Amino acid sequence: MVNNGPQSAKSSGSKNLLQGPHGPRSLRLRQRAFAFFMAQFNKRYEKLVAERKQALFAGLHGDVLEIGPGTGANLIYYRRDVRWLGIEPNPFMHTYLREQAQKLALPIEVRIGSAECLEAADKSMDAVVSTLVLCSVDDPARALREIRRVLKPNGRYLFIEHVAAPRGQWRRRLQDLIYPIWCVLADGCHVNRETGGLIEAAGFAAVAYTRFQLPLGPVAPHIAGHAIEKA
Ligand SMILES: C[S@@+](CC[C@H](N)C(=O)[O-])C[C@H]1O[C@@H](n2cnc3c(N)ncnc32)[C@H](O)[C@@H]1O
Repeated sequence: MVNNGPQSAKSSGSKNLLQGPHGPRSLRLRQRAFAFFMAQFNKRYEKLVAERKQALFAGLHGDVLEIGPGTGANLIYYRRDVRWLGIEPNPFMHTYLREQAQKLALPIEVRIGSAECLEAADKSMDAVVSTLVLCSVDDPARALREIRRVLKPNGRYLFIEHVAAPRGQWRRRLQDLIYPIWCVLADGCHVNRETGGLIEAAGFAAVAYTRFQLPLGPVAPHIAGHAIEKA
């Protein structure tokens, strides 16, 4: 299915890619702590987005690539017959992912890797999924090019991402102010990234998303939607 090497991918731009269990001790500690944090955070976050995710992911089938699946918060929404590949740079997430998949009896394949250099063949995926990931990648435009590369014609990119508040709002000023420290504390998360605009500019045939707010302080503004690859 999806086990081909990167056919037109270039070298990775990810900050923590392939550090694996042998990376620097401080990085490993941060990765381990973030994986633990995400496993706890998901319990609260999923209650806020469950209905939205059910609607968004309904109808997913075939070959599905999830980038940055973290501890596996989305696995519950997939049909058992999807062929699921996860590309997740933090190796400490993999244990949580596998445990969750086992509980759900969902066969999965997980690889260390980065959204900016997806280890998947051109035009091989029916869908690509990302939730709360484009805020964290080093080069979102490149990640979006990679998503388009691996999607089949008419394939769908489904996303839920937290995004920058509109310029001029107090929340945006707060996001701009806390960005440097937030980035360090939250594993490279760019709290003020204008991800909706980046997706619109990526060259998909169509993009549709809705904006919504969650009670999550600086990461309240969200978008959820889909983009369709050209035929
Ligand atoms: C906030 S967590 C979200 C995890 C999961 N998608 C969820 O919704 O619970 C961000 C995830 O993106 C991953 N990530 C960070 N940089 C990445 C990159 N360049 N490529 C792919 N995943 C990345 C992190 O390791 C982490 O698992």
